[in-house]
Amino acid sequence: MSGITLIGCGFVADLYMRSLTTFPDVKVLGAYDHDSERMATFCAHWDIPQIASLDGVFDAQPKDGVILNLTNPTSHYEINMACLNAGHHVWSEKPLAMTMEDARAVCALASSKGLMMASAPCSVLGQAAQTLARAVKDKVPGEAQLIYAELDDGYIPQAPLEAWRSESGAPWPYVDEFRVGCTLEHAGYYLSWLIGMFGSVRSVTAASATVIPDKLGVTDAAPDFSTATLFFDNGPVARLTCSIAAPHDHQIRVIGDKGVLKLDKAWDNGAAVKFHKRMRIRRRLLESPIGRKIPAAGAAHPKVGRWGAASMNFALGPVEMLRAIARGEDSRLAGDYALHLNEVTLAIQNAGDDTGAQQMTTGCEPMRPMEWG
Ligand SMILES: NC(=O)c1ccc[n+]([C@@H]2O[C@H](COP(=O)([O-])OP(=O)(O)OC[C@H]3O[C@@H](n4cnc5c(N)ncnc54)[C@H](O)[C@@H]3O)[C@@H](O)[C@H]2O)c1
Repeated sequence: MSGITLIGCGFVADLYMRSLTTFPDVKVLGAYDHDSERMATFCAHWDIPQIASLDGVFDAQPKDGVILNLTNPTSHYEINMACLNAGHHVWSEKPLAMTMEDARAVCALASSKGLMMASAPCSVLGQAAQTLARAVKDKVPGEAQLIYAELDDGYIPQAPLEAWRSESGAPWPYVDEFRVGCTLEHAGYYLSWLIGMFGSVRSVTAASATVIPDKLGVTDAAPDFSTATLFFDNGPVARLTCSIAAPHDHQIRVIGDKGVLKLDKAWDNGAAVKFHKRMRIRRRLLESPIGRKIPAAGAAHPKVGRWGAASMNFALGPVEMLRAIARGEDSRLAGDYALHLNEVTLAIQNAGDDTGAQQMTTGCEPMRPMEWG
């Protein structure tokens, strides 16, 4: 397989490098970051060449390889455009771009140049997501009717964020994370699975809000909570929740008329998918508390150990692209799929508060307590 270069040597770049070690036939040709000190530390840690400029990346990178754009979200558009204009296939960290106008421009440029433009997350290619998708396709819970997916991370502003470091020592960029917001950062982890299983979302009814007013002094933070109801063109209805306030909960439940398919860990490629059969026992209706584990279809991809909150192989996406390029096929994660994922994510992120919602015309006071209340 051809090689890759990295742009951006921060926190996530270490997760990619650790993941890439599981694909020894993929050569990492070098890395560039406009923060030269960070680049030097990162490249020394991984023993890869430093590249002095963006043009240097374009020169070093073969055209049948992939450039990984691992910069901060506000740089994604500019870097994606520059790489495509230089004639390279690009894997971008999420989101593809911060506005739909920019995302459309990126995808149009890629298409006009016959290049692939794909974006994270790639956990949809992992064993857990693929096992869930197969069980849904095989109608293990019956026809999928309703899906509840949660991406609540816990009350993050009170976590020991200053102590969170990547393998080569990059600090977890919490200021940037708060400004970009948990929806743009995380909704994709289940949206990608849902769109992968059911295709297009027809419409989104969503709201987003700031519920934690002070996030370590970051005054221009994005919403820290969102909830969305997704209506699929040819599929079920799904509810997706993101927050950095509610207790950690990363489960997804696919509900059908035979029972519930469930998985607890969105960020673990090896997470167990279990089927909880629905049954009647005398006068009760319940789903079996002990789930039946759905086995993986065959030999799975290489796994990586846990770092921080995730045990995901971040190289699955770039490697899938490299294989597609070598075979002359389309990448599963590029083109229309990437653009649609970006659109649905932005629709949730930008849904805003309840000003556009149906306003109530009646009202009442909170209830006075009972004697024991
Ligand atoms: N931090 C995580 O746990 C995590 C996990 C998954 C995905 N991501 C995604 O990865 C991306 C990067 O996040 P991060 O946590 O690594 O951030 P980071 O701030 O730690 O690293 C980003 C790096 O990109 C560099 N950079 C920014 N703009 C650049 C430009 N125009 N040219 C060259 N270098 C540039 C910065 O100097 C920095 O070193 C984001 O899109 C984020 O959503 C982060």
